[in-house]
Amino acid sequence: MGQKQDNLIVVLDMGSATTRMLVGDVHEHVLRYRGHGVVESSGMRKGMIAELAPAAKAVRAASEQAERVARVNIDACTVGVGGPHIRGLNTSGGIQLGRGMREITREDVRAAVDHARAIERPADREILHLLPRQFILDEQPGIFDPVGMVGARLEVELHIATCSGSALQSAVTCANRAGLEVTEAVLEAVASAECTLSGDERNLGVCLLDIGAHSSEIAVFFEGAVAYTASVPIGGAHFTNDLAIGLQMSVAQAEEIKRQYGNVVVTAVPQTAEVEIANPNPQRLSLRTVAEILEPRARELMYFVRESLRQGGVLDALGVGCVLTGGGAMLPGMLDVTESQLRVPARTGMPVRLPQMPAELNHPSWAASIGMVLYAHRTRAMREAEDNRSLRAKLRAMFAASF
Ligand SMILES: Nc1ncnc2c1ncn2[C@@H]1O[C@H](COP(=O)(O)OP(=O)(O)OP(=O)(O)O)[C@@H](O)[C@H]1O
Ligand SMILES: [Mg+2]
Repeated sequence: MGQKQDNLIVVLDMGSATTRMLVGDVHEHVLRYRGHGVVESSGMRKGMIAELAPAAKAVRAASEQAERVARVNIDACTVGVGGPHIRGLNTSGGIQLGRGMREITREDVRAAVDHARAIERPADREILHLLPRQFILDEQPGIFDPVGMVGARLEVELHIATCSGSALQSAVTCANRAGLEVTEAVLEAVASAECTLSGDERNLGVCLLDIGAHSSEIAVFFEGAVAYTASVPIGGAHFTNDLAIGLQMSVAQAEEIKRQYGNVVVTAVPQTAEVEIANPNPQRLSLRTVAEILEPRARELMYFVRESLRQGGVLDALGVGCVLTGGGAMLPGMLDVTESQLRVPARTGMPVRLPQMPAELNHPSWAASIGMVLYAHRTRAMREAEDNRSLRAKLRAMFAASF
């Protein structure tokens, strides 16, 4: 296999239906596609690992494919986390900077965030992200980065995204069993947002909804920051299962019918539309009947999403509307049902294309993986900038000491 490289970014999305690995590399400061692997998931249930050995086998298969395409050795990755065990909460806290006014340092920002995050949380909860919504300096709100400003009291409003500790540990163990070290974990909806939403949309208020196979992940952005994260326990597999039961056919056949002819708006399907199917018996299948089975499930999904947004107090914050990603976003009519249930405009979130990326990844179900690559690239660049800053500060201090 190929050589090991420091400029690689490797991400792993262990989805309920599909396990994806994506490799990017940074060449002359440009992030580009390097390779990917994709296999059917195994041992997954409701976005969580139910059986370690088959799940790890799928991860190893995806990783081996990605290694072959990218011609590199893969031994570490960023993992995506999603599923009904995701919870988000908003908190606030702050610090007094001293007796008078003074310049704010990065350490002060860290201390304010530490104060805001110091909340009671159940034992089995892991913090995935600490996302500052805004800083408030001497009662002046709306500050994104207070470093270098002058004041006496610094406060921060924080969104804390948490997940089940055991679910995260299982994902790490699974990756380890497949020979991969996990370097970072990213909330899937936050990742999908990274490659589909514009800065304006995040400022004006938007809901990112990633419709996976077993669950759908929510992240709401308002005034440029994450305001709400949650997960609802309905995904594309529920639509498929409804068809399999309603039409008395196998799940595989129902999946095919859904993808080829499915529509979640009954009135959009002509009354006479039919297709021939051969199994279980040769018959003509009314596409209206298919839509009549699918539409209630779409309405139920969007009802849950609406209730979740209402409980989170963000239903009125969606100035721009809703952006759908995940494989489930491809079902025709889903945008109409979203618009009618949430009463905001909706669009499909196609992920940005990395240079050299093959066309088959140009699909909303790749949004989480592509977004994770962008996210990992951005956080790595931020860490490097911080290391450079602290190195420069150390050098300045050394020079000052030697005079
Ligand atoms: N063209 C399509 N039309 C309709 N549905 C589709 C289409 N392509 C994929 N899907 C559905 O999307 C779902 C899988 O989406 P995705 O790959 O985003 O899920 P996942 O990441 O494996 O699952 P999860 O995020 O829940 O863990 C399946 O239910 C599948 O039926
Ligand atoms: Mg997914």
